[in-house]
Amino acid sequence: MIIVAAGKGERMGGPPKQFRNVAGVPMLLRAIRPFVAHPDVAHVAVVVAPDVAAAPPAWLGELRGGTLSVTVGGSERRQSVAAGLAALPDECNIVLVHDAARPFVDPAVIDGIIAEARAGRSAIAAVPMSDTIKEAASDGRTVVRTVPRDALWRAQTPQGFPRAVLAAAHAAGEPSLRATDDASLVEAAGGTVTLVPDSATNFKITSAADLALADAWARSGAEAHR
Ligand code: CTP
Ligand code: MG
Repeated sequence: MIIVAAGKGERMGGPPKQFRNVAGVPMLLRAIRPFVAHPDVAHVAVVVAPDVAAAPPAWLGELRGGTLSVTVGGSERRQSVAAGLAALPDECNIVLVHDAARPFVDPAVIDGIIAEARAGRSAIAAVPMSDTIKEAASDGRTVVRTVPRDALWRAQTPQGFPRAVLAAAHAAGEPSLRATDDASLVEAAGGTVTLVPDSATNFKITSAADLALADAWARSGAEAHR
């Protein structure tokens, strides 16, 4: 599996968010742990920026070894995933991709994604929309209509694929296609993607407010009893 952690965290500002602490534990370490602990995960490829790969923090250096590798990513998420894919041993024939910015993945969701990928399907962790969704006009201010939400899901990670499907989708996708998730590339290549229900607690930390929320959630201990 691949953990993408080569982003700059520009929307949050400051040092890259994946190395910030969430209740005293680096966000990336929280994201890595459930995969390292999972009996069906044979290899974890952690994709980081060049300076981090050259001088990883001690906790990452200690994890580095037979089943965990540290690889240099690119300037777009898609390039980072491609670098991770190249770092995986040949015997990994299903591949999961997870954002370092999601420190609260549920092991049961990892199980669900693995089961789908093993059955030959591409699968994404996703949450049904709960808010009422409005479409705005080009002025970004005027509501054009209310979009029926019944069929709408928010895509999260992990996402899982038969390796050949992910590799082919990456190879086929227009280089200009700025995919923010891997399933989009599979969809663009004509593939089918299956939803695996996930919980909103596996949210992505994007802003400083998200980091504060993550910190409070982790300190509450609630995530341990999910
Ligand atoms: N990512 C990556 N390589 C990139 C861009 C993103 O590995 N070139 C990773 C991030 O580290 C993160 C995940 O992809 O774990 C999701 O991306 P996002 O939340 O957008 O993180 P950043 O790109 O770091 O943040 P921002 O877009 O605000 O700069
Ligand atoms: Mg980004």
